[in-house]
Amino acid sequence: MTRIPFQLTHAAARHRLAALVLLLASSVVSGRGTEPTRLITIATAHAALVLSNNAAGRILELHFGAVPADLSAFKKAPGREREFYPQYGDGFGENFVPDPALQVTHSDGNTSTDLLCRGQRTQPLDADISLTRLELKDPAYPFFVTLCFKTYFNEDVIEAWTEIRHEEAGEVVLHRYASCAPLLTAKAYWLTQFHGDYRHEATLAEEKLAPGTKVLDSRLGVRAARYCLPSCLISLDQPADEESGEMLGASLEWSGSFALAFELDPENRLRATCGINPLGEEYHLKPGVVFKTPAVLWSWSDHGKGQVSRNFHRWALRYGVRDGQKPRPVLCNNWEATDMDFDEHLIASLFDGAQEIGADTFLLDDGWFGNAHPRNHDNAGLGDWQVNTNKLPHGLTYLAGEARRRGVNFGIWLEPEMVNPASDLFTQHPDWAMHQPHRRADLSRNQLDLDLSRPAVREFAWGAVSNTLATPGVSYVKWDANRFVTQPGSTYLPASAQSDLLVDYNFALYDVMARMAERFPDVMAMACSGGGGRVDYGALKFFHSFWPSDNTDPRDRVKIQWGYSHFFPAASMAAHATKMGGRPMKFALDVAMSGAFGVDMDLRKLASDERSSLAAGIALYKNEVREVVEQGDLYRLESPYEKPRAALDFVSPDRARAVLFVYQLTNAPATPVKLCGLDPQRKYRVREVNLAGATGASPAASGKMIDGATLMCDGLQPSCHAEFDSAVFVLAGE
Ligand code: DGJ
Repeated sequence: MTRIPFQLTHAAARHRLAALVLLLASSVVSGRGTEPTRLITIATAHAALVLSNNAAGRILELHFGAVPADLSAFKKAPGREREFYPQYGDGFGENFVPDPALQVTHSDGNTSTDLLCRGQRTQPLDADISLTRLELKDPAYPFFVTLCFKTYFNEDVIEAWTEIRHEEAGEVVLHRYASCAPLLTAKAYWLTQFHGDYRHEATLAEEKLAPGTKVLDSRLGVRAARYCLPSCLISLDQPADEESGEMLGASLEWSGSFALAFELDPENRLRATCGINPLGEEYHLKPGVVFKTPAVLWSWSDHGKGQVSRNFHRWALRYGVRDGQKPRPVLCNNWEATDMDFDEHLIASLFDGAQEIGADTFLLDDGWFGNAHPRNHDNAGLGDWQVNTNKLPHGLTYLAGEARRRGVNFGIWLEPEMVNPASDLFTQHPDWAMHQPHRRADLSRNQLDLDLSRPAVREFAWGAVSNTLATPGVSYVKWDANRFVTQPGSTYLPASAQSDLLVDYNFALYDVMARMAERFPDVMAMACSGGGGRVDYGALKFFHSFWPSDNTDPRDRVKIQWGYSHFFPAASMAAHATKMGGRPMKFALDVAMSGAFGVDMDLRKLASDERSSLAAGIALYKNEVREVVEQGDLYRLESPYEKPRAALDFVSPDRARAVLFVYQLTNAPATPVKLCGLDPQRKYRVREVNLAGATGASPAASGKMIDGATLMCDGLQPSCHAEFDSAVFVLAGE
């Protein structure tokens, strides 16, 4: 692996690029080739999507990659094989027929669509963000498509989506309605996906794409991920490298079924058709209604996947997750300690433990509700969001007060989209659950999905959220969703519109989530879905963090967190120290410190050295680690997929501070770790921290002042060599 030790951001180069980008954004060029062409450039600091609006009004793609040095290369418009948003059924002449981005049946039964551009507008929204809208229309129908692009200049992110509407006499059926379908051009392409079942989320797998179509998808309906994240990397010309090579990252903002399809055509072009998975989700669009597809976030870099990740992280902290700049509280959770077997007294004793170790917030997980059908097991109670008076006779307000008395905030678990058949809710409203006629209800974790397409159900879900969060003292919520859809049927939707269900569901879900964020701006929120089932930027805009996996064994979490880190910043990734796997406490703490730190242990049963290790770890995290990890730039240094250890560092935006983590996964001799992202000229005081439970002496470098260039070229040798050794170094610049 080639590594470029220093961050290659030179102010002069950036200024030159910025000037060029302004020129591109403002210019519409008439070509002097065989066919006149108007260029449309959608650009960020380092990347550009260049489109042409040809003489006929067709939108063709010329380039997606680095900001081009010279526009004259694009004076000739290409043929329809480079159409940016291909439509089904209108013929491509002798050219290759691409996978359509849009397939529609018009109200008169015509299955073809033809889209020509009628207008274009680019509007700066602020110093960083611009919005470009390309207005397309079918010449034969009052059928309109708007291709939309929001550019985040400094973060190097382009957000692309499509809006579809019509004024035809009746409904139009949308069979396929991709968010966007850009073309990539290179000699060869490597795709990195993040797949994995429950407890093995975000597992990285890379393959060279062969001719034909490779699809990453999910068919789960109400959660994007179980077997695959709706995010991927496409490396151009060479396999993905951490700090070098051309690379695009894509992440779909959608929490339902998705499809990211990559078609390598006979001319070696790669079309990336991304959006909602149309399987079973043909949508019936009424006249006058705007169908807005979810957006895809694109980030391009020629500095490898490390830079693509940093682009996503910076974007997310500024725009993509709630309150990106706000420190995440150190959270204690009772799930792994108690499951649903608790009462008021036990929870209060856990508050004592949380106070002793210095946690900020205590989150009461599943099991606090249901009376006629008490939630003592996962077979009852879901849907009955009243506090269980046996377990918690004084209610949530009292419990929150008990937490506050100990200086700890109080949070609560909810699963508002689901119902157990054993519940008052189901007894009263059996038709509120999704099901198919003549089929036996297919239970998963003993529960069913509520049909959020029905307005009364949506309001019920909102009531569950708003009543619970309005409880005095509640300052945090974990929103869970523990099953996916296997019988997508609605008793609310007419027979002719059953396939609208999952699209309507997800828009209704976002409506409830948006209301939560608006009505409860001070309540922090974690997105969870039976582990990491809802890790996507569709949901995350309403949440502060996500639960990556129910696998909290730190050995496995190293890889799971590594996978998610390609798109999601550490501030958003809940990382809890637990006893799963029986690993050394120091290893569990060190792994959790490279995310949004939390603890899930039975705090009553800790040995005194464990308690003091936890307290010291939390104090260290809050005082010296959290800000750099949550707000800094991540450099993945050594991959646990390639090496016997994982190493990563975070560097503060001003490069004055850094934190290095090393996790030994198998026995191997200690060797130096070369850091990245530091200021080469600056001297850093290097200090190994979190030493309780450390094996071996702290390395000689600890306590010394060392310049950034040396740390990046020669590296720093940790004492780790045996399985589950780990080390954390804090670097403070002069
Ligand atoms: C699944 C989540 O991933 C767990 O953390 C826990 O909240 C359980 N659900 C509760 O049912």
